[in-house]
Amino acid sequence: MQATRLIHLSGATVSLVLEPNTDGAPVWRYFGAPAGSDGSLSVSGLADAWPAAGAQPLPPTMLENDPPLTLLPTHGLGWFNQPALAGSRAADGGDLDWAHDFRPDDVQWDEHTLRVELSDDVAGLGMTVVYSVEPESGVVSAWAELDNRADTPFRLDWLAAACVPLAPGMDRVLGFSGKWTLEFQENRETLGVATWRRDNRRGRTSHDSFPGVIAGSTLGDDDGTALGAHLGWSGNHTILIEPLADGRRQLQIGEWLAPGEVVLARGERYRTPTAYLAFSARGLNALSASFHQFVRQHVLAWPGGRMAPRPVHLNTWEAVYCKHDPDDLMSLATSAAEVGVERFVLDDGWFHRRDSDRAALGDWWPDARKYPHGLAPLIEHVRTLGMQFGLWVEPEMVSPDSDLYRAHPDWAMHLEGRPLVTGRHQLVLDLANRDVEDYLFDALDTLLRGHSIDYLKWDMNRDLATAGHRGRAAYRRQTDACYRLLARLRAAHPALEIESCASGGGRADYGMLAHMHRVWTSDSNDALTRIGIQRGFLRFFPPEVMGAHIGPAVSHTTGRRHDMAFRAAVAVPGHLGLEMDVRMLDPDERAELVRWIGLFKTWRDVAHSGTLRQGEAGASLAWLQIAAPDRSAALIAIYRRREDTDRYIAPMPVKGLDPMRRYRVQILHMPTAPHYAKPSGLLATLAERGLVLSGATLGDLGVPVPPLPPESAVVIGCTEALD
Ligand code: GLA
Repeated sequence: MQATRLIHLSGATVSLVLEPNTDGAPVWRYFGAPAGSDGSLSVSGLADAWPAAGAQPLPPTMLENDPPLTLLPTHGLGWFNQPALAGSRAADGGDLDWAHDFRPDDVQWDEHTLRVELSDDVAGLGMTVVYSVEPESGVVSAWAELDNRADTPFRLDWLAAACVPLAPGMDRVLGFSGKWTLEFQENRETLGVATWRRDNRRGRTSHDSFPGVIAGSTLGDDDGTALGAHLGWSGNHTILIEPLADGRRQLQIGEWLAPGEVVLARGERYRTPTAYLAFSARGLNALSASFHQFVRQHVLAWPGGRMAPRPVHLNTWEAVYCKHDPDDLMSLATSAAEVGVERFVLDDGWFHRRDSDRAALGDWWPDARKYPHGLAPLIEHVRTLGMQFGLWVEPEMVSPDSDLYRAHPDWAMHLEGRPLVTGRHQLVLDLANRDVEDYLFDALDTLLRGHSIDYLKWDMNRDLATAGHRGRAAYRRQTDACYRLLARLRAAHPALEIESCASGGGRADYGMLAHMHRVWTSDSNDALTRIGIQRGFLRFFPPEVMGAHIGPAVSHTTGRRHDMAFRAAVAVPGHLGLEMDVRMLDPDERAELVRWIGLFKTWRDVAHSGTLRQGEAGASLAWLQIAAPDRSAALIAIYRRREDTDRYIAPMPVKGLDPMRRYRVQILHMPTAPHYAKPSGLLATLAERGLVLSGATLGDLGVPVPPLPPESAVVIGCTEALD
């Protein structure tokens, strides 16, 4: 038998193997651990592969041509599963060209990238499909592009950005759900015979359906296979996992399209957003490490090309809400600088007649009643204190009670004859209208030119409904226009950093992260709630983009009370900020806050460049560790969520350090609840002086963990002992 020449793309953590196919798109043979690694495909097996066609005897009742799973399975000629493409052409009496059959025109590949050009001459369609493996992280970027080559319009209903196989046995799924103040909640489900599917039609990335999923065998933190998929897109999405007849499953991810949203005239093209895929043979933490590495090197675009140390924020929202008084804010800024804050962010309430969320969005100039001399005196005060200045804006929105709306009621997204749907008393501007885009660019550009502003907190506080542009659904246009506006602003103000906020974490995705530098992870600053929110967020995003604030003692969103240490220990691994009125602290709390900010500054380089591992011990303990890239240090935080019957907490093995090197291990914080025994022996030494241990001991035996009362944390640092 003549060996089949296979297409093999590879990166550090993944191999993709496909079989060229003269009848259609390349056929999936393998998506998994790098060929040649333990338990994966052998390289020699690849070299003399048997062909996919005819490998399985055709069972009774099947069509004689049972199409295999390709990069682009299409409906109509025998593929009865979810097709990667759905669409048709309107014709008299009913739609045509709904059954598709693409033939390859050109298939090019090298070690890392596969590019396939196909055409369906009967339907008058062309298609490009690209899969590209980033070699170091192993993250695969995939997209597809359809073009209409016939004279009549083609209405597109679905085009998968990626369509990949899951090996038999990968029958667990980790998906994400959520709501305001409870984003990135992990849901583990077992896949069955029905299709698993999530759609987002809210027009923004959404709180309740993060555009990412992980499918795997055990979904263990450090064991089992796992395939992660994420759509880098800030609009709608669909993710589905469907069982196939041969025991595998297919995973498709792409943009959910409203009816008629994409209709291609002759020569027009639709390119999907990019899907990002990663594979791990060692559980969820290794998967996250791939995504983090990729985001750091290929998604984030820092001013000047490099991330500066993440400055400690003070965000004014929960301190003053919309009650702005420049003298009061200056005094808040002075106190913030004294405790070590490095960036003062003026939240909502500063612009023309903005006294509550009922009015003023769109009127982006300082409120002359509150700021008779404009923002300049406050900004200058902040600068004199040595801090950067940030400003809150919500450009995509308009309040019906605003000068902008009164002047341009037609600028809000709407559908003729349909009511305007408000959310938080506001409407969405139709960014696909160039006049709107130009107005917003000018308004923001004027603010940025006229003031010394380093940072924008860019908010987006409602879902899109009646998302119409000239009668057509315009979710996609809106998202594209938002990216365009951001790109224009970044080009005009290259030193600017921007935060993505959408009532907290409602717009967290790699599409936004290509334009922005931080995500406001959640409006919940309740440390207990935050543990779960951050855990989900960190699956796909590195800690340096995770906005994490120490809130007030009593959470404004849950009413729960936590001590400073627990609040700080949960926030410290992320991009730290304060969401409180620091002037209200008593001297002890203030001194404690200063210590935590100091701890953050000491450890931020490690936390924001290192390799993260997360885990849980039962339902009551959660932990994370971040090891420096050069293995010279590690930061460990262990959180007790609730009471448990365990009397001792097992020592925590510290991974990612060098077994041959020696480390000073120091407890940086441990709780001092009155009924818990004072540490003695080894724990006392660890807390008081620290102890030098080898990386091997730390990796195998771990560090002892003190008893932890509910809703408390211990933080431990390991630094290389060079003496
Ligand atoms: C949203 C944000 C908050 C705050 C308010 C201001 O809710 O998520 O952080 O900025 O808007 O109105």
